[in-house]
Amino acid sequence: METQCQRVKLNDGHFIPILGFGTYAPEEVPKSEALEVTKFAIEVGFRHIDCAHAYRNEEQVGHAIRSKIADGTVKREDIFYTSKLWSTCLQPELVQSALEKSLKNLQLDYVDLYLIHTPVPLKQGGEILPTDEDGKLILDSVDLRHTWEALEKCKDAGLTKSIGVSNFNHKQLEKILNKHRLKYKPVCNQVECHPYLNQGKLLGFCKSHDIVLVAYGALGSQRLSKWVNPNYPILLEDPVLCAIAKKHKQTPALVALRYQIQCGVVALAKSYNRKRIKENMQVFDFELTPEDMKTIDGINRNMRYYEFLPIIDHPEYPYSEEY
Ligand SMILES: NC(=O)c1ccc[n+]([C@@H]2O[C@H](COP(=O)([O-])OP(=O)(O)OC[C@H]3O[C@@H](n4cnc5c(N)ncnc54)[C@H](OP(=O)(O)O)[C@@H]3O)[C@@H](O)[C@H]2O)c1
Repeated sequence: METQCQRVKLNDGHFIPILGFGTYAPEEVPKSEALEVTKFAIEVGFRHIDCAHAYRNEEQVGHAIRSKIADGTVKREDIFYTSKLWSTCLQPELVQSALEKSLKNLQLDYVDLYLIHTPVPLKQGGEILPTDEDGKLILDSVDLRHTWEALEKCKDAGLTKSIGVSNFNHKQLEKILNKHRLKYKPVCNQVECHPYLNQGKLLGFCKSHDIVLVAYGALGSQRLSKWVNPNYPILLEDPVLCAIAKKHKQTPALVALRYQIQCGVVALAKSYNRKRIKENMQVFDFELTPEDMKTIDGINRNMRYYEFLPIIDHPEYPYSEEY
């Protein structure tokens, strides 16, 4: 990993910055805030921006990127922008138009990375979360290898520089890797990853296939009641993280992010608060010792904040596998 330029090489030759800015905020947060915080994140040095069609803020995030290009802060090639194919568009014939819709919202010519957001398809149509009259999610079925072939075509068409997956377990990754006539391997698998779920086995699998693991929920998730059980412990209050933070005169958040980076994981950090956005860039200003790393390894409890329980019955539900 090239830490000095804070980027890591992907298996297709492109580079991804090892710290990314997470842009997802709940519905009640005005979309205009996504514009302001993304501009601010770029001003303080973030170059990797993680977004998705399903976050419903690509218009504002794209606007922020374009305005920071227009005022000379960055060039387009300095920014690494990730978008994601939502689960209602996993049928291969829907993939390219879904990416084109994102590009239209963003007003950009290409994205740097396009991910299959989850391996579980939902019924196609306008709704992000299509539900039946009982409020149950309407699931669908698809061969993920065919979805992947459609992503490969998007890369060939120049709509995205790199392609990857998110929320895949190792068997689902293997299915793509072992696919007949695979043209491009996934460059990454973006999954929940933090000291309570350190993904040791999945990380080992990914490293052995030159696939980068990108961590979301690296700060313990936003704990939104829609997605996360409020009784789950608060990562950033963990006594071990707090003690290591105190020793280094850093914050538990910075220790959590630094831990990912030293594990060889690309870390996303979401904040809509200027002080904390700026603070998160300080992850490059200190180092954890091998003993600190071992101690943090010791608090792993394979605990997932984002369980996605409404899709648990689907055969592609990724977390039925150990990793
Ligand atoms: N692929 C997927 O399925 C998937 C799923 C979930 C998330 N993601 C992506 O990953 C990103 C990050 O994950 P996440 O949304 O779960 O959040 P996260 O990065 O784990 O952050 C959780 C919370 O930590 C707070 N925070 C940030 N910096 C802090 C600091 N220095 N000190 C104390 N608290 C701090 C933030 O609150 P404030 O805003 O108040 O600072 C934020 O709400 C998302 O925004 C999204 O881009 C992807």
